[in-house]
Amino acid sequence: MTQYIDTQVCIIGSGPAGLLLSQLLANAGIDTVVLDRKDRAYIEGRIRAGVLEHGTVTALEEAGVADRLHREGLLHDGFDLAFDGDRHRIDLAALTGKTVTVYGQTEVTKDLFDRRFAEAQPFYFNVEDVRPTDLTSDRPVVRFRQDGKDVAVRCDYVAGCDGFHGVSRQAIPGDVLRTFERVYPFGWLGIMVERPPVSHELIYANHARGFALASMRSKTRSRYYLQCSLDDDVADWSDDRFWDELRLRLGPDTAAHLQTGPSFEKSIAPLRSFVAEPMRYGNLFLAGDAAHIVPPTGAKGLNLAVADVRLLSRALIEHYRDGTDHHLEHYSETALRRVWKVERFSWQLSTLMHHFPENSPFEARMQRAEFDYLSSSEAASRAIAENYVGLPLD
Ligand code: APR
Ligand code: PHB
Repeated sequence: MTQYIDTQVCIIGSGPAGLLLSQLLANAGIDTVVLDRKDRAYIEGRIRAGVLEHGTVTALEEAGVADRLHREGLLHDGFDLAFDGDRHRIDLAALTGKTVTVYGQTEVTKDLFDRRFAEAQPFYFNVEDVRPTDLTSDRPVVRFRQDGKDVAVRCDYVAGCDGFHGVSRQAIPGDVLRTFERVYPFGWLGIMVERPPVSHELIYANHARGFALASMRSKTRSRYYLQCSLDDDVADWSDDRFWDELRLRLGPDTAAHLQTGPSFEKSIAPLRSFVAEPMRYGNLFLAGDAAHIVPPTGAKGLNLAVADVRLLSRALIEHYRDGTDHHLEHYSETALRRVWKVERFSWQLSTLMHHFPENSPFEARMQRAEFDYLSSSEAASRAIAENYVGLPLD
């Protein structure tokens, strides 16, 4: 016996993309159902990046979930690039007139969940066997099982916000879907520690031993990353080994200010660039990691998901409010134009800042020359800055 549910938009995935889309549509009076194969506690527990573009903050303000962000978020008007001990500050405010906000993605997710629960959003957690069907019909159906029962959501549109490992992208026929991928020959070993950050701004360091990033979650909680081998296991990295390596890669002047302590989160993540085209099939629309992945170097994963959601929510609201489908019809083309520009920036910064095992001495000199050019050219620094604070939405 199948339980049938009717709604306007069925959102698969309750990460940042799905949650924000649900909130923006609810604010416009559009009915949604959100389903996820995990539950709220698991989703909130995922450690992810923490730099919000100017446009992301605007979107969260529009969604009505930015109060805590404005209270607790840290405004940053610049960051440092370091190369074998030399430092160059990218002055975001002077070069673009904009800043970024350091505020953990975990907190963004919690703020969105709090608001959706307060508004009694219908959630279906711990679902299994999710199958988007009839996507080219006027009434797609998303089928799934929950607690042993068959459920079917009949809707006008399906939003595939189910991340890189989700089912939505797989629902696009193989002769329609095109994918593009670059897998990087290293990983990022990240730790979290309850200690003040080594610097008041982020430091991205390219050292002969490898990349390092000094970041933070607050004035008392720091986040650090080291480039590591894909063969590494977290068990290979004691806290002491991590701190010793971080000191070497940040250099003695910075390391002198490093406050170390016991890590309370430690994990290794692979790096990839990935894009799936198109981001629409029939009445299925992909948004966020379901459609693209960026290496974390440019802190663009969450921000790119938010940009997709801003475009998709604008299109769906226009459809239901004005009865016109211009932005729906151009969603994939518009979103992908921006996705590829952000992929380019994330790939460029990753290529500049990491030690590539296969690089010859020539490529190593090209990295140094790029850094020296950035350090001496306001135009080159402005190019980095305008990508970092966030490109225009469309
Ligand atoms: N059925 C239902 N839900 C699913 C399925 C499925 N088959 N597969 C995945 N999901 C859920 C996951 O449990 C997760 O909660 O979809 C959600 C996808 O969330 P994210 O992976 O966070 O992707 P997105 O919302 O696009 O966020 C993109 O935030 O999480 C970061 O690294 C991510 O920075 C990126 C940004
Ligand atoms: C983080 O704080 O997790 C972070 C910050 C900036 C990045 C990547 C990750 O580029």
